Amino acid sequence: MLTLAVPKGRVLPEALNLLKQIGWPIPDDITASRRLIFDLDNGQRLILAKPVDVPVYVQYGVADLGVVGKDVLLEERADVYELLDLGIGRCRLALAAPQAYVSHLKPNREMLRVATKYPRLARQFFAERGEQVEIVALSGSIELAPLLGLAERIVDIVSTGQTLRENGLVELETISEITSRLIASRTGYRFKQDHILRLVHALEALQGGVRVDL
Ligand code: PRP
Repeated sequence: MLTLAVPKGRVLPEALNLLKQIGWPIPDDITASRRLIFDLDNGQRLILAKPVDVPVYVQYGVADLGVVGKDVLLEERADVYELLDLGIGRCRLALAAPQAYVSHLKPNREMLRVATKYPRLARQFFAERGEQVEIVALSGSIELAPLLGLAERIVDIVSTGQTLRENGLVELETISEITSRLIASRTGYRFKQDHILRLVHALEALQGGVRVDL
């Protein structure tokens, strides 16, 4: 039996769709349900976790595998194997700022403040440019920070761009293109390598347009 951690939220339907396409019996009500563990009819187990926690479950080996954004992998640097780019959850990590009409509200501060859920990646981005900034770590709704004068820039995920638009922010630069990855725990990989590789090959074949049932 494999235990696969999938992220709750916007990537979940795409992840479940991939699994359905390789023949996993995914219950129809899974996205509407509040249950967190699903034992499937093919003997595999799905756990639904917060996206940022997926690598934690995998690193500790309570999940053999996980589906997680490259953004989370880069930020958290979990000790896991990255097996496959699943090509889902496409978005980008970007630098954004208030539109011109808001940005005349200059703070009485020497150092630029940058609000983000990705303090490590933001720090690295500005360090590589030799710019000194103050990073303000938040855990969500990052777009609020510049609107309230807490920060002049944000580093955040942009997918459709709707959140930026509706909050009067503009994208200045793409920092990194992001997709979801299949990750494996080191112990899970050691003891269940055959099962895991069968899943990897099925998913790979799917990306190539060929369907393989496990
Ligand atoms: C993410 C991200 C942006 C938004 C971008 O937030 O942090 O806020 O999605 O998507 P869009 O470009 O399609 O509008 P999420 O929905 O994960 O919630 P959060 O702000 O609480 O992190």
